[in-house]
Amino acid sequence: MIANSIDLAISLLQSNELVAIPTETVYGLAGNAYSEEAILKIFQVKQRPKFDPLIVHTYAIEHIYDFVAEIPEIALSLFEKLAPGPVTILLPKKNNIPDLVTSGLNQVAVRIPNHPLTLELLSLLPFPLAAPSANPFGYISPTSALHVEMQLGNKIKLILDGGESQVGVESTIIGFEEGKPIIYRLGGTAIEALEKITGKLLIRESTSSPTAPGMLKSHYAPHKPFLLGNISTLVAANADKKIGVLSFDEIYNDVELCYRLSPAGNMQEAAKNLFKCLRLLDMSNVDLIIAELVPDENLGKAINDRLRRAAY
Ligand code: TXA
Ligand code: MG
Repeated sequence: MIANSIDLAISLLQSNELVAIPTETVYGLAGNAYSEEAILKIFQVKQRPKFDPLIVHTYAIEHIYDFVAEIPEIALSLFEKLAPGPVTILLPKKNNIPDLVTSGLNQVAVRIPNHPLTLELLSLLPFPLAAPSANPFGYISPTSALHVEMQLGNKIKLILDGGESQVGVESTIIGFEEGKPIIYRLGGTAIEALEKITGKLLIRESTSSPTAPGMLKSHYAPHKPFLLGNISTLVAANADKKIGVLSFDEIYNDVELCYRLSPAGNMQEAAKNLFKCLRLLDMSNVDLIIAELVPDENLGKAINDRLRRAAY
């Protein structure tokens, strides 16, 4: 059910049920982060492999200490400057976070999401919320309550409706190796903005090996065949098919369907539209989706990361 009752959300979460919650990045599938029973349900409903750990959400920096042993100075200054917002930081966990949440790792991913409804919900609960994106594992992430309803509606009791996600790509994930900050996932906070706080950042390569949780090469993928490259060339090479195009800012005629991420070439707008457009193309009558990379700057880096994984 889609509704915006915080009271109902609280009572469900307190009985270890799941609730889909809005965030500025994508919708999350939330459960009590301290409850193994609730966490197990998250993995079941998403059909998510247990080696892929979950992000824990709270509403204020001081509450991170409820479940984290220590916050290094750089992490604290990142949170002070950027939270609430689309940034997630890996920190040493306390024992109240079940191993199931972190896939057995001793670091937990922490984030303060920037959405008024979810911040209010978090402030009224006596526990933080573990929440992966509210999509079946591997599929396109949801940026509206309706997207969640279409795929998980029969498996969860409540989808809190907070409107369309304003950022549209998942949070940027930062960890530390030998004290140095490293990007584990490109996302809604641009690397350029982070580097103003941290100095030059390394980016960890994706992998298909399950020993590096959550960095799987194939992800965010539509069900239809999906090709990434030069749109005109790919369209010409597939002239016998019904084609749907996802372009950055240009219109392509002579294809069945064409969505532009941002007619004005605005990167924020492009990020906000990315998953919605991919989903619309996947739900349409085309045989094949053809897309192009966007300029590789600011949020464009996160958009290109998602496009590459969708095509892998
Ligand atoms: O914007 C977001 O981050 C959204 C909203 C709902 O908050 N959440 C999200 O969660 O994208 P999910 O489950 O789709 O992605 C979580 C990723 C994992 O795949 C993994 O890469 C990383 O976070 N992660 C979580 N805990 C980790 C840990 N302890 N060590 C390394 N990576 C971790
Ligand atoms: Mg996800």
